[in-house]
Amino acid sequence: MSEKQIVVIPGDGIGEEITAAAVCILKKAAGKSGIQLHVERHLAGGAAIDAYGLPLPDSTIQAAKRADAILLGAVGGPKWDGVAPEIRAEKAILGLRKELGLYANLRPIRVAKALIEFSPLKPEAISGVDILLVRELNGGIYYGAKNEAAVVNGVEQASDLEIYSTPEVERIVKLACQAAQLRRKQVVSVDKANVLASSRLWRKTAQETAAQYRDVTLSHLYVDNCAMQLILAPKQFDVIVTNNLFGDILSDEAAVLTGSIGMLPSASLGDGTGLYEPIHGSAPDIAGKGLANPVGTILSAAMLLRYSLGAEEAAAAIEKAVDQVLVQGYRTADLYKPGSTKVSTEEITSLIEKQLG
Ligand code: NAD
Ligand code: IPM
Ligand code: MN
Repeated sequence: MSEKQIVVIPGDGIGEEITAAAVCILKKAAGKSGIQLHVERHLAGGAAIDAYGLPLPDSTIQAAKRADAILLGAVGGPKWDGVAPEIRAEKAILGLRKELGLYANLRPIRVAKALIEFSPLKPEAISGVDILLVRELNGGIYYGAKNEAAVVNGVEQASDLEIYSTPEVERIVKLACQAAQLRRKQVVSVDKANVLASSRLWRKTAQETAAQYRDVTLSHLYVDNCAMQLILAPKQFDVIVTNNLFGDILSDEAAVLTGSIGMLPSASLGDGTGLYEPIHGSAPDIAGKGLANPVGTILSAAMLLRYSLGAEEAAAAIEKAVDQVLVQGYRTADLYKPGSTKVSTEEITSLIEKQLG
């Protein structure tokens, strides 16, 4: 039996409920594959502001660096929206991504067969959609110089700088091309090169980088057109590679194709320990009510097993168990329709656990 150290950061809002669900499934699947997990909880986000006065304590960073993998719920919420910008709850995630050098965020968008009727698109448009969105996660406007609101020449103004360097674009496009080689070998790079200088550098670098992958076809879309194409004809996409901000927005949009944002997992990879989290936020409107869909976090745990622990069989077993429970008609409130069985966060977790055998 091998032993692995997992840092769990529940965060805020529904974070506690969904990470508890995912840890339960993670332990079960890992155990069946001969991996013993040691789980250490750490604070970040609003919970850490309450406890320490800052969103990302050094103890959390150090534990994350030492661990074999990190599982995160979500951070933030109205309780902390009024704090100073430099200690916002969301800074915890941005800080972890940067501290660990996690420059690639993989967001797979697949539609479970059992959920096709929950998509706002017609069944023929949605069935078979299988997209890998590769979001750059360490650069761009998220990390460029900021000027908080201040009065300049009698008017209040604020700014955020969108900035990318060639090496930053190269490494993410390489990763997207390598991912595409294991899939349908089509990469669409999304930018706004008709307007933004940073996007023109992005497009040129993407072209030069992808040319090294002869079996991969690269094409380009402007982000506004991509947003439309995702709804119009999502099956055209294999791998999408894009910057930090566009990737954030397009992935929430793409989530709707799958029926609920609660379904989508992600893996953040790069130089340091891999971090796994659902793509949604802390959903303060439903926190503590047993309404949260834990599947995005459970599928993030599957990605953790696959990418950080090399346990492909355990990862695939989780994905299969989730599919089976959905086929059996069990639904959390976000995916409920008459004729299916409405279950709570904990109930769907137990069903998935049982399915794992
Ligand atoms: P959100 O994703 O938290 O919620 C958007 C909507 O989706 C809400 O109606 C919510 O109830 C629903 N939803 C989200 N996850 C769900 C789930 N698992 N099951 C069922 N329904 C779900 O986005 P928001 O409301 O814009 O943000 C709330 C807070 O979360 C903010 O503070 C924001 O900054 C933060 N946030 C954090 C992360 C993260 O930690 N990675 C991501 C996005 C937003
Ligand atoms: C996400 C979130 C984060 C982001 C926020 C909370 C910083 O929206 O992970 O998608 O914008 O990256
Ligand atoms: Mn987001």
